[in-house]
Amino acid sequence: MASLKGQTAMITGASMGIGEAIAMALAKEGVRLTLVSRSKDKLEDVRNKIAAQYPDIKVGVYPVDVQNAAEVDKAVETAISEVGAIDILINNLSCFIIEENKRKKRFWELPIELISQMNGTNVSGVMYTTHSVLNRSMWAQKEGTIINISSVTGLECPPFDGEAVYHANKAGLEAFSNSLRIETAGSNIRVLVLRPGCVATNFHLQRVKYDKNAMDEFFYGYEPLVAQDLADSVLYMLSRPGRTSIKALDCVPTAQRGLTRFDREWNERNKQ
Ligand SMILES: NC(=O)c1ccc[n+]([C@@H]2O[C@H](COP(=O)([O-])OP(=O)(O)OC[C@H]3O[C@@H](n4cnc5c(N)ncnc54)[C@H](OP(=O)(O)O)[C@@H]3O)[C@@H](O)[C@H]2O)c1
Repeated sequence: MASLKGQTAMITGASMGIGEAIAMALAKEGVRLTLVSRSKDKLEDVRNKIAAQYPDIKVGVYPVDVQNAAEVDKAVETAISEVGAIDILINNLSCFIIEENKRKKRFWELPIELISQMNGTNVSGVMYTTHSVLNRSMWAQKEGTIINISSVTGLECPPFDGEAVYHANKAGLEAFSNSLRIETAGSNIRVLVLRPGCVATNFHLQRVKYDKNAMDEFFYGYEPLVAQDLADSVLYMLSRPGRTSIKALDCVPTAQRGLTRFDREWNERNKQ
């Protein structure tokens, strides 16, 4: 297992959920961190948690909306000068906005601003971050690992209304990753994809419009993943020797047998 100690990582969407868990896991391995999301206060909370457990780890926080390319580039420049050249980029953030009413709107019923915000965050924002990190760090070093957090829905769409933009964004991320892997030939840069199945985070609450009952119904009868499971997957991918690229890894709950086939007897069968 290759040691990660002393490397510097940039993690987007690090203010909560999977991104926060990845930050904690990398800090434990001795990785310096640069954390990105829009909420300064939440990023500072994560930095404080890391400082309490791993006081020797340097952590910089960079509140930015990744839809703004100039601000992203400025954040990357500042992160490199404050913390160090970036060896690891985890493109983890995403936004999944649902309109404020009970019925999920189909694609053509969505306001254009919502479509633009999701495309701007999940596609352009990821590209802006990657563009800046490659130009300012990885391509000069000819070294680094980029992990794009996609989804099992990047390959196949579930049959739910109101989700066309998100699933198209994830399919785009798959294509971007495959092309970038080819374009970075001539370097030691690895471009990898991690595809989560259902993980219990704020993401799903947002997806069901913060309706706790709908969330409970979605997770009924089985154990979803927790953010730590994805952090463990990231550690596994990062710690392979340089000759090895785990190009893509699907990490799903065992009870998620297919995109929409959940073993709802899981809890009953596996109760302690
Ligand atoms: N949870 C699941 O079941 C699941 C399943 C499949 C794939 N995934 C993928 O896993 C990744 C992490 O998901 P999660 O469940 O941890 O999500 P989450 O809890 O909703 O966190 C999303 C993160 O993205 C940040 N963010 C959103 N818009 C942003 C913007 N415009 N600029 C900067 N930061 C922004 C948020 O921070 P701020 O609000 O502070 O900006 C937050 O830190 C995502 O790519 C998601 O698509 C999750």
